[in-house]
Amino acid sequence: MIEIVPETPSLHADAIEALFDVTFGPGHFAKTAERLREYSRSLPEINRVALDDGKVIGVCRVWPLVVGPERMQALFYGPVAVDPAYRGNFLSLKITEAALEAGKAAGWPAAILIGAHSLFGKAGFTIVPRGRLTFPGPQDPARIMVRDLAGDASLLEGLVTAP
Ligand SMILES: CC(C)(COP(=O)(O)OP(=O)(O)OC[C@H]1O[C@@H](n2cnc3c(N)ncnc32)[C@H](O)[C@@H]1OP(=O)(O)O)[C@@H](O)C(=O)NCCC(=O)NCCS
Repeated sequence: MIEIVPETPSLHADAIEALFDVTFGPGHFAKTAERLREYSRSLPEINRVALDDGKVIGVCRVWPLVVGPERMQALFYGPVAVDPAYRGNFLSLKITEAALEAGKAAGWPAAILIGAHSLFGKAGFTIVPRGRLTFPGPQDPARIMVRDLAGDASLLEGLVTAP
């Protein structure tokens, strides 16, 4: 039976890292998004993992970031990964939506995600107008998306950095 639960690091963290190795490969850590994650700490109570009989088969990790000179708070969603054997049922969206609900319930104002709009648009993410958000490294503007949580994501503007 598949269930979606918060991350318990002592139970899930090693399996999550193994899943990232399988899904992204070694090039993963070179990405701009990783530069942000390097200096932030993901939030286990908001992260969501999909378990099949206790085995980690999917994950969405979530990181606090600040945006612009006013240091507006936002949550950065990703990486999102699903075990290749379990793909084909939009499980990534179900996991991400559970993590979005958790972020909203905890009062975080807005979510940022870098990824495919064709997929994550289905979870309510919209592409930001070009230039509104910048990152500490190159980033394809067509992949930069935001979504309201408890606040207004359209207020986010400026350089996205770790807190
Ligand atoms: C992306 C991923 C999480 C999706 O897994 P999933 O929820 O099982 O997705 P599905 O296989 O059910 O596919 C759902 C839809 O998303 C599309 N899709 C899948 N991966 C995609 C990707 N990387 N980019 C764009 N679209 C993608 C599929 O084509 C499908 O669309 P369709 O129904 O129009 O054909 C999974 O493929 C994965 O782990 N990939 C490697 C890691 C990754 O690229 N993560 C995303 C960036 S953070």
